[in-house]
Amino acid sequence: MAILITGGAGYIGSHTCLELLAAGEEIVVLDNFVNASPVACERVRRIAGKDFPVVTCDIRDANGLRRVFDRYPVDAVIHFAGLKAVGESVKKPLEYYDNNIGGTVCLLNVMREKGVKTMVFSSSATVYGASNPVPFREDMPTGGTTNPYGTTKFFIEQILKDLCVSDPEWSVSLLRYFNPIGAHESGLIGEAPNGIPNNLMPYIAQVAVGKREKLFVFGNDYPTSDGTGVRDYIHVVDLAKGHLSALQRARTVHGCEIFNLGTGKGVSVLELLSAFQKASGVQIPYEIAPRRTGDIAVCYADASKAETVLGWKAERSTFDACRDTWRWQKNNPDGYGL
Ligand code: NAD
Ligand code: WQD
Repeated sequence: MAILITGGAGYIGSHTCLELLAAGEEIVVLDNFVNASPVACERVRRIAGKDFPVVTCDIRDANGLRRVFDRYPVDAVIHFAGLKAVGESVKKPLEYYDNNIGGTVCLLNVMREKGVKTMVFSSSATVYGASNPVPFREDMPTGGTTNPYGTTKFFIEQILKDLCVSDPEWSVSLLRYFNPIGAHESGLIGEAPNGIPNNLMPYIAQVAVGKREKLFVFGNDYPTSDGTGVRDYIHVVDLAKGHLSALQRARTVHGCEIFNLGTGKGVSVLELLSAFQKASGVQIPYEIAPRRTGDIAVCYADASKAETVLGWKAERSTFDACRDTWRWQKNNPDGYGL
């Protein structure tokens, strides 16, 4: 049997492919390469020393999906494919709703048609909105999202919950990622954003490698220890391993389950900056800038459910993630050369 990985050429998808291959799973990658390069899949093959099929297909293309299910013995789907830029989603809401929600509904219809009813889905801590106290627990209310991207995750979660209520044969794991950072220790795969990075870690890495002049720290007047925003930064390899645990669970338990994948620890912008400087030996110039619209002060997980139920917990430190990001960025200053 094989696992279909939608968005498998992307940042988190490529790292997850490696972990699945290492665990002896057969995989099929499906991606339309809107935000990824086929080079990432070549690198995964090289590190793993294993081959696997990569299909260029859009998740909104039902016939293309049908051909994939007809050709390969898919028994489960890990669904990463989606657009993820918060700011862009505010400008292009229809594109985000169409790609993320329309694409997921199309994929689910074909899965049902082909009798494949197991899915691990990439959700986000963004579904908790701004009004819950930290740490965020899976049973806290969701919604109140502040941008169309976040709303697509909230809606897709609801669609998947409804589907599981309608048909008890479905097994769905909703994984709420906190802030994924880092790269594989080989330095061969990592995060390769197009244009100006939206997220903190890739921005720091690009300043370190000389592609950007300085970091802008968005606000130093939050009610936190040093005034800068606090997040739960999780190493992408730990996150990737979490998918393997979630998949094993979904293969044995029916219904919809939700898991936070985070470290349970909050780290400020300046703390991350300092860890990166230590790990890389490079000084990063920075300037305090106004708060970014839509940001919350503090966000970190209660990660205990994943540990109790899945037997998974994050093992790598912030320092490890900075060291691995630096290795990737230094060796691949232009990412995959997109
Ligand atoms: P990414 O952009 O690197 O990966 C997404 C992949 O999906 C890309 O390879 C892209 O080409 C592909 N894709 C997009 N639309 C598609 C479509 N219609 N058909 C086929 N392929 C399509 O992003 P990532 O950081 O690896 O994120 C993976 C998933 O995790 C996304 O769903 C994202 O929303 C979610 N997520 C990411 C973060 C984060 O901070 N990186 C946090 C929480 C959740
Ligand atoms: C982290 C901290 C910023 C950039 C986003 C999405 C979320 C999820 C993960 C997908 C904040 C500060 C940032 C910079 C800065 N993605 N910052 N200067 O906003 O927590 O989460 O990515 O689901 O939905 O919203 O991550 O990395 O953008 O910001 O000072 O140049 O770094 O203000 O405090 P965020 P981030």
